[in-house]
Order: sequence, then C-alpha cells, then structure tokens
Amino acid sequence: MTRPAPVASVLVVDDEPIIRANLAEFLYSEGFAVSSAATGEAALALVSQKKFDVVLCDVNLPGLDGIEVLERVGRVSPETFVLLFTAYATVESAVDAFHKGAHDYLMKPIILREVVGKIRRLLKQRDLYRENQWLRRELAREDAADGMVVGRTPAVKKVVEMARKAAPTPSTVLITGESGTGKELLARAVHRWAQAAKPSDGRFVAVNCAALPPDGDAAGPFTAAGAGTVFLDEVGELPAAMQAKLLRAIDAKEVLPARAAEPVAVAARVVAATNKDLAAEVAAGRFRDDLFYRLNVVTLHLPPLRDRREDIPELVEHLVAKHAAAMGKKVSGVGHEAMQLLLACPWKGNIRELDNALQRAVILGDGPLVTPADLPPDLAPRADDPSAVERLEDAVHRFEKRHIERLLRVSTDKKDAARRLDIGLSSLYRKIEQYGIGSGDGR
Ligand SMILES: Nc1ncnc2c1ncn2[C@@H]1O[C@H](COP(=O)(O)OP(=O)(O)OP(=O)(O)O)[C@@H](O)[C@H]1O
Ligand SMILES: [Mg+2]
Repeated sequence: MTRPAPVASVLVVDDEPIIRANLAEFLYSEGFAVSSAATGEAALALVSQKKFDVVLCDVNLPGLDGIEVLERVGRVSPETFVLLFTAYATVESAVDAFHKGAHDYLMKPIILREVVGKIRRLLKQRDLYRENQWLRRELAREDAADGMVVGRTPAVKKVVEMARKAAPTPSTVLITGESGTGKELLARAVHRWAQAAKPSDGRFVAVNCAALPPDGDAAGPFTAAGAGTVFLDEVGELPAAMQAKLLRAIDAKEVLPARAAEPVAVAARVVAATNKDLAAEVAAGRFRDDLFYRLNVVTLHLPPLRDRREDIPELVEHLVAKHAAAMGKKVSGVGHEAMQLLLACPWKGNIRELDNALQRAVILGDGPLVTPADLPPDLAPRADDPSAVERLEDAVHRFEKRHIERLLRVSTDKKDAARRLDIGLSSLYRKIEQYGIGSGDGR
C-alpha cells in the first residue's frame, strides 16, 4: 500500500494581499500546491472548478464572509477541509464556525508554522480515516461471502469452517441457535457451497415444521428439492407422524408420495434447524431419539448476538449497505453515537432485531450516516439518563476553557487577550481562575 502521496492542494482566501502572499509563499515552500483568492466569491468559483484538500479562509471578508464560504464549500465539496482564521476571535464566532462545520480555526496574527501543523494534522486524520474505511470494506467483502458476515468471534468462525467442510458431503446438518441468529442464512450457504462443489439443478426447499399438519405429505419437499436441500425449519415442532416419515427419508433414502403405490428415491440432503434443545425434547419424550441421532451428525451452533458483540460493527456495516442498496438510499454507515447505542443494546431478537432496526434507520434517515434519532426509540438514550447527554452548560464551559487557553498561548498579555475576547479584564481573570487555566505550568 505504498501509493505516492499526492501533493495536497490548499486555497488561501484573504482580502489582504500581504497575508495572502505570505501564506501562499510559505505553504508552497512547504510542498503544498497553492491557489489564492481575494474574495469569498472568487474562492467559490475556484472550488467549483477544482477539488482542494484544504481551504484556508479569513472570516472577515468584504462580500461573502468566511462563515458563508465555509457553508457553501461544505455543500459543493464536502471532502474539503475548511480552516477559518479571524482577527477578533470572539467566543461566538468560533462557536459558530465549529457549529457550521469548520474543521479548525486560527487566530490572527497568523503563525505560519501553526498553520502548516494544523493542515498536516487534518490531512493525516483524513488518510487514516480513508485507510480505515478501505480496510473495513475489504474485510467486509471477504467475510460477507454469500451474504453472510462471519466476523471475528472464534465460535462463529469455527461453525462456518465446519459448514464448509460438511457442505460437499451428503451428511445431514443440524443448526441450532436462538431465534434470529442466522440459522436459515447458514442453511442456504450450505446449499450453495454444496452446489458449487457439485452443480445440479437441485433446489433449496424450506419447510416450516411448526406449520405442517400431522398427516402431511413428506414427499413433496423432497421431490421439489431434487438433488438439492430440504431445509427443515423448527424441526423440534415436527408432529410425531411426520417424524416417522422423515426418519424413513433419511434412513432408507425414500419417501412415499400421497396416493402413490411405490416409494420414490430421495436425492436431497437434509439441513434441519431448531431454537430448542433437541436433546431435552428427546428426554421429555417429544422427539424420537432415532431421528435425533440421524439429524445430529454435524451440529452447528450459532451463538446469540450478545455473545459476539465484537462482530456488531461489521454486521452493521453489512446490513446498512444491504438496505441502502435495496432502497436506493445514500447511507454509507452509522455515526459514532449511534454505534455506541448499537454496541450496548441487549439484542434479545439477535441479528434479526439488529437487521430490522437498521432497515428502519435507512428508511427514516436523511443524512449519510445513521444517527441515534433514526434508531428505534427503545434503543435511544433515555432523556432521564443524565450520563447520556452532556449538559449544555458543561459543553459551553469546556469550549470556553479551550478557547481561552489557545488565545493565551499566542497572547501572553492578559489585557490584550481580554480585549480580543471582547470581555472585561476582571471576567477574564475570573474565568482563568474558574477553569484552572495555566495553573502550574509557569504562565
Ligand atoms: N451472519 C449474518 N450476516 C448477515 N446477516 C445475517 C447474519 N445472520 C443473520 N442475518 C440476517 O438476520 C436475519 C435473521 O436471520 P435468519 O432468518 O437466518 O435467522 P434464524 O436463526 O433463522 O431466525 P428464526 O429462528 O427467527 O427463524 C436475516 O435477515 C438475515 O439475513
Ligand atoms: Mg429461521
């Protein structure tokens, strides 16, 4: 993965020719491709023609101001970083800039090294992000072979490995696991792997055993499947008479179609699934032990989702992509906060419940990322949970502290700092005291 690093392009926007020239010259000497514009309008014209990595823009411009430039660049070229700089960095203007999506801001007088440092940091973040996205997509593609995310849980990897080994053999396969853990998906994968090893016109025929009449026809699914797979879903619910017919199909490899005089040969393999403990059903006398032993040759147990939480991010990515494609929506993933909720959920309904929650989110969501508001309300942070959301006052304090600290790093004169913040000197002292700014590091 050693792609040559392309030269990053920077657009400098300032109405003061000296600042523009100084910045452009310095950035050029640091190896960036630099363009410049004297007004917001000129900057937007350039951005619409060419893709810039970074736009460095003064907030105070004669026509369109920096905040407007920021918003429009965000619309035209969302991948471009915007760094604003301002002579009078009031708390409001900086809050506003961040709120509207500025990636960082700087205060005048501009310190050239600082500008370059910030640009490099932003570009590095972006590279890491892209690489991460790329790797995750590659991994998802590999693991999602056959529409099934395998993930990294050892128990699941083992199960899939066993399934791949059993697939090309005629062996019966029993899949166990709670509701929604992916039993049918795995059964279909076994069928496809079997067909890949030995192609035939055999089909996958699913039978819901819970819905079969006690005197039903066992031959139907077998004749329909041909050399394919008969999937006996909820096999623990199979009526006693049907259990006998099934045993004969597996054992003697023949079934007797209704009203037929002669049995017909069975070519299909049987894959059965249950969310019950079949051994316990046998012990309770509800399931034939001879049939249980025939089914229980290769048993694949799918763990509940709560026991494979490390696979949630990959499952989420796969399921979001699946629903986005099905509904033609441009949803590329799940935001950080929403992911925290998804990781913490108990998931009693397992992957099926996760699948449904994400389908709903893709339908309801408006943005490129799923947000907590798009998730079912019972997953969202509860309003009465004080830890879920930071209080506004705390957020403002955190911001104020950081903002004042930054200013004091460039302006050691408190009077000057207070003037630039547009607050009184005594309130600046009060805030320095309140936030414990600069205490203990000699300033
Ligand atoms: N490993 C997986 N990767 C991707 N999607 C999965 C995975 N496992 C399950 N799903 C999805 O979750 C949903 C439920 O899966 P499936 O129907 O196979 O579960 P099940 O165990 O048969 O459930 P039930 O016992 O309720 O019938 C399906 O939409 C399926 O596509
Ligand atoms: Mg099922």
